[in-house]
Amino acid sequence: MGPSAIRYAGLAGQLESAGVSPTDAGDLAVPHHATRDADAGPANAKHVQEVEEVTTSLADAVSTALAEETTPLALGGDHSIAIGSLVGSARDADIGVIWFDAHGDFNTPSTSPSGNVHGMPLAAALGIGDFEGAEWANAAGLEAENVAIVGLRSVDGPEAEAIRDTDVTVYTMSDIDERGITDVTNDALDVATDGTDGVHISLDLDWLDPREAPGVGTPVRGGVTYREAHAAMELVARSEAMRSFELVEVNPILDEHNETATLATELAASAFGKRIL
Ligand code: ARG
Ligand code: MN
Ligand code: MN
Ligand code: MN
Repeated sequence: MGPSAIRYAGLAGQLESAGVSPTDAGDLAVPHHATRDADAGPANAKHVQEVEEVTTSLADAVSTALAEETTPLALGGDHSIAIGSLVGSARDADIGVIWFDAHGDFNTPSTSPSGNVHGMPLAAALGIGDFEGAEWANAAGLEAENVAIVGLRSVDGPEAEAIRDTDVTVYTMSDIDERGITDVTNDALDVATDGTDGVHISLDLDWLDPREAPGVGTPVRGGVTYREAHAAMELVARSEAMRSFELVEVNPILDEHNETATLATELAASAFGKRIL
């Protein structure tokens, strides 16, 4: 439903206003949630078989788009799709990642309090814990030292420990309060571009304050503002380092008049270089 809502909100027009000529590759085959048992699969990694299938096809689509010298933009939906974006983007290149999110998404099946794979994609792509050696999930050209999480404000106990055990760099909401979005985003870009061929931008709409982005499954108060979000995306565009991009966690059932999907399209335009003048 997320991709449909984002298209409906006018993604193509927004990208055109950024000077991009988008090609819509359509939807990947994803099993319909309504037709599945809500708790299918292992309790500590729900629907993980489906996640493996979908992310494997997404990884192929992302790497094909890159081979054609285009910039892949993946739409979700659940943040578990990031596994596919990262595997595909890091298949033939060394990449960095900026993870704009309220959450760390650094759980593994052993630490997850919910069993929701959307809380695990960063750990999965880095091959942490249970994901060690999981070929479908590990992103070949991605190292923790090139990963920056920006806007963190909700993290589970063992998840925090797992983050601290790696070389991932974290900028919390407190860092943004103290230093401002510009400095923090520029530092995150330094982390993600250091020795890499390009950067994957993962934009979870719950990064923003729920007042701006109500249509998400796991809202957390105290997020970035509309203007801070645009400022960060504008810096991403100016860096010219963006290799691949994704907009995730848009859920139109929880949204108000599709405003979160609309916001997602506007932020995409900024990330792809739309300027005010
Ligand atoms: N930390 C929680 C969990 O692992 C919430 C994760 C939310 N992640 C997301 N992409 N919405 O269940
Ligand atoms: Mn989700
Ligand atoms: Mn999140
Ligand atoms: Mn997330």
